[in-house]
Amino acid sequence: MKIGILKETKKREKRVSISPNIAKQLIAKGFEILVEEDAGIKSTFKNADYRDIGAVIEKRGVVFKESDVLIKINPFDDDDLKLVTKGQILMSQLFHKSHPELIKSIAAKGVSAFSMDAMPRISRAQDMDVLSSQSNLAGYKAVIKGAYEMTKIFPLMMTAAGTITPSRVLVYGVGVAGLQAIATAKRLGAIVEATDIRLETKEQTESLGAKFISVEPNGEVNEGVYAKVASEDYAKRQKEAVNKSLFKADLVITTAMVPGRRSPVLITEEQVKQMKNGAVIIDLAASQGGNCELSRMNKAVIRNGVKIIGTTISPESVSTNASELFAKNMYNFILHLTENNQFKWDLEEEITDETLIVQDGKIRQNGKTE
Ligand code: NAI
Repeated sequence: MKIGILKETKKREKRVSISPNIAKQLIAKGFEILVEEDAGIKSTFKNADYRDIGAVIEKRGVVFKESDVLIKINPFDDDDLKLVTKGQILMSQLFHKSHPELIKSIAAKGVSAFSMDAMPRISRAQDMDVLSSQSNLAGYKAVIKGAYEMTKIFPLMMTAAGTITPSRVLVYGVGVAGLQAIATAKRLGAIVEATDIRLETKEQTESLGAKFISVEPNGEVNEGVYAKVASEDYAKRQKEAVNKSLFKADLVITTAMVPGRRSPVLITEEQVKQMKNGAVIIDLAASQGGNCELSRMNKAVIRNGVKIIGTTISPESVSTNASELFAKNMYNFILHLTENNQFKWDLEEEITDETLIVQDGKIRQNGKTE
């Protein structure tokens, strides 16, 4: 079976879906690997790195024409779909709930499509979960980005010239990204506090040495491992509980998301007005509308001396590690779906069932939006 690795065309994207190391492991399992010319260049992987491990470098058109399976990180777009042919298998993140038109266009091509972001959150799928591996790096990078923008250092420092007090960091949302942000800020020596609508995250927060700000839910229950949309009453009580910490914070990292929905607004302009002059907000939920009312995607907004940076959970700026982890997730997924290098199409099996959005040109139940 021939697997084609496509170069990402999305603006700002620096990652590649399969690294040379993982391409080598796939070849060892009997797959043939075609790589679009310069696909890995922005992740520091040269064409020669792929060639050296036995992959074939080809022009874009050839990769599309000759591959049985086509792999990308970002959703296939109209330009890609012009080049796919009936019977091919597409694998990428599709975010099908917010892209119904794309799913229809994919189906119209008579292909099959798996979506990596539809991975069920069960233990045995953990090593295939790209949202998790990428969010983890995004949480780390958010703190580094914040540190760079701040005019203060993180740790307590006693010097001959006087004592520097530690910075205060507040994290909203203790999912994968939030946990890594807490761990990173702690490692750098900050005083860290965090809050989440899922109270089970209290223990995880405290195990990292940070303080958890509890807000009792009122009817809000989780949907599986995910949070449910918070009520107005909850949002009000959350503000009351968190404001004291927010107004003292030097760095705020927001990661709160609800799958398939606009991210909740947790920090209003009114609250920003009361924050410390020089404070920084890194809003990782900006691509879904943002947790801060003032966030703008890929922009820095300064209001009353507070710098608000809207960014994404896709950690393009650590593209080498992000590509390596995405590739490992993809490798595990491909091995899970295949036997003797052929797809098993075991639709009774949960991971296959949930991630297969289009099969042979037909949109499956999971691909339909409500
Ligand atoms: P996410 O990206 O959907 O949301 C981030 C965090 O924001 C969540 O912890 C959520 O509870 C919180 N949040 C949402 N609305 C909020 C609000 N109004 N106020 C405060 N906090 C709010 O979450 P992520 O990172 O995808 O993780 C969700 C869960 O899934 C975690 O428990 C994680 O451990 C679990 N997980 C399980 C996997 C598996 O079993 N295969 C793989 C990856 C994650």
